[in-house]
Amino acid sequence: MVNNSADGRLTREGIRIHNPSDFAGMNKAGDLAARILDDVADQVFVGQTTATIDDFIRARVEEAGATSATIGYKGYQHASCISVNHVVCHGIPGDKKLKDGDILNVDVTVVVDGWFGDTSRMYVAGKLSRKAERLIQVTHDALFKGIEAARPGNTFGDIGHAIQTYVEANRMSVVRDFCGHGLGRVFHAPPNVLHYGRPGTGPQLEEGMFFTIEPMVNLGRAETKVLADDWTAVTRDKSLSAQFEHSIGITSDGCDIFTLSPAGRFHPTYHSE
Ligand code: MF3
Ligand code: CO
Ligand code: CO
Repeated sequence: MVNNSADGRLTREGIRIHNPSDFAGMNKAGDLAARILDDVADQVFVGQTTATIDDFIRARVEEAGATSATIGYKGYQHASCISVNHVVCHGIPGDKKLKDGDILNVDVTVVVDGWFGDTSRMYVAGKLSRKAERLIQVTHDALFKGIEAARPGNTFGDIGHAIQTYVEANRMSVVRDFCGHGLGRVFHAPPNVLHYGRPGTGPQLEEGMFFTIEPMVNLGRAETKVLADDWTAVTRDKSLSAQFEHSIGITSDGCDIFTLSPAGRFHPTYHSE
């Protein structure tokens, strides 16, 4: 006889409802991912390679006795995705040196005691340009607009709508080709968490749902394409792109953010937390 009661239940859309005790596992995994990204800040400078940043992340995951969720995932070989300038997401760490003013997203997913912690944030090498600063600020704030809408009684469409409205009011575009996702004891689970949408549409949010919100925002048009390496997604118009990601869990009256930065370093200028 198999007893699945400890795993919670699935909604009719296939979204897992976790138990209150499952939040502790997600907090631990999220905290490790966030601490690693806190320390990545010191590894980002002009002349540094993204492969070296990835080596640092891999070592930190191993030291913690955790596992990287991305190494071996669909053939991916790295402990992080590092997406520079017009790379939207899934940038592959490599030997190219960072230049003054480059902006980059570093995305890390760790597995601790079977729970997945998935988070990404923006960094800058050297001096941040005014237009990149604006893009990063709008993307960061768009994530938090989505998080503010994440509570029982709202729907996934409300989250997407909050993000889209904010981004478009700032004359930037939300990427449609990639979305957030449910997670927990798996990396990618239902639902697809769209970063655009209409109020009141999509599944209802319920206490115990765990998922990411990870808006990608472009200074130019929303369209992307994937390069011949089958991973690197770039803006079609070569415009700058930014992304921030948190893993969250719906509570009775809002949400817990599992991947909060203990050092207050989530935003690249360390101001807005
Ligand atoms: N961490 C990414 C996400 O936010 C997924 C990366 S999969 C990889 O869902 F294979 F590209 F690493
Ligand atoms: Co994710
Ligand atoms: Co991620």
